[in-house]
Amino acid sequence: MTDHHLNINGKPHVVEGVEDSTPLLWILRDALGLLGTKYGCGIGSCGACTIHVDGIPIRSCSFPISAVDGKEIRTIEGLASKDGTLHALQQAWIESDVAQCGYCQAGQLMSAAALLDASPNPSDSDIDDAMQGNYCRCGTYKRIKSAIHLAADSLSGRVGKS
Ligand code: FES
Ligand code: FES
Repeated sequence: MTDHHLNINGKPHVVEGVEDSTPLLWILRDALGLLGTKYGCGIGSCGACTIHVDGIPIRSCSFPISAVDGKEIRTIEGLASKDGTLHALQQAWIESDVAQCGYCQAGQLMSAAALLDASPNPSDSDIDDAMQGNYCRCGTYKRIKSAIHLAADSLSGRVGKS
């Protein structure tokens, strides 16, 4: 059991007396109350628990807390700006009416955000590659793809930001 120093959405947290192998998702939800990140499969296969560690999308259900000490963690709660301005993806998600039950959507948004950080003007196949591990039982894939294109256009200034 050790203490872990986490930097989550720009804020430092000390998590005391936790096994090194504890999945980060458990810490986010149960210890820190960051409930936006969802538990789906628990084995790294569905994408519901996707967050960023140093800008890379990872499955927090299968990522030990010991691997993130001192790293920059970003969860869905940190996707909007500090002043509350929604990320272009969140705005596009609303405009495209993407969500159905909503359960998978935090993970979808975090994977999409990592994609746009790495590839600001993704093709359909870039989107397919980046999003292929994020499952949606409601079948919102087409709307997700449209919303990613819309957000990319908004970020690049190709369409007006609302
Ligand atoms: S809950 Fe982590 S990948 Fe499914
Ligand atoms: S919106 Fe229901 S699982 Fe994706």
